[in-house]
Amino acid sequence: MTIRLEETTDWPAIYAIYAAAFGQSAEADLVRNMESDRELILSLVAYAEEPAGHIAYSHLVLHETPPIKACVLAPLAVAHPFQNKGIGTTLVQHSLDRLRADGYDLVTVLGDPRYYGRFGFDPKLAEKLETPYDGPYLQALALSDKGNDARGPVSYARAFAELN
Ligand SMILES: CC(C)(COP(=O)(O)OP(=O)(O)OC[C@H]1O[C@@H](n2cnc3c(N)ncnc32)[C@H](O)[C@@H]1OP(=O)(O)O)[C@@H](O)C(=O)NCCC(=O)NCCS
Repeated sequence: MTIRLEETTDWPAIYAIYAAAFGQSAEADLVRNMESDRELILSLVAYAEEPAGHIAYSHLVLHETPPIKACVLAPLAVAHPFQNKGIGTTLVQHSLDRLRADGYDLVTVLGDPRYYGRFGFDPKLAEKLETPYDGPYLQALALSDKGNDARGPVSYARAFAELN
């Protein structure tokens, strides 16, 4: 299995992965809308003869602490036959390494803390932010010391407003 940047020809398979994982097209639509808005900062595919999983990140604007470079992890899915084989973990770890190397200070995610906690995502760090998703499922991970100082209101990529 290799992890690489998404290519145009991957899209039908990625769409199918999200549709099967979530039973709807909203997550796949989110990826495409963020891309057309130029708000997608990283889109990676786990490839095992076919796309087996996908992860995406978009810009997050921190209004009170703008020098902190922040992004949002969403969405993430692994195709059903490939689940529980470490592919999701590899996608998250690989992408976090890339973001750290690209100078990102903070990542937020909305999801199950039992999954994201293993990567260091913490609901406590996210409590200092004011987002449309505040609550126990909102978590944050500092990729640098600076990331721990993030606070206040944030703006997600426009396409998130179309979810639900
Ligand atoms: C969640 C998901 C991305 C994990 O990817 P994966 O490749 O199957 O997971 P990994 O093999 O890396 O990790 C497996 C571990 O994650 C746990 N896990 C899997 N899905 C989980 C979930 N939704 N919530 C909490 N824990 C979960 C497994 O129980 C397993 O735990 P263990 O290591 O203690 O045994 C994948 O199962 C998936 O696409 N699910 C459907 C879509 C989804 O729920 N996406 C949002 C994620 S919050």
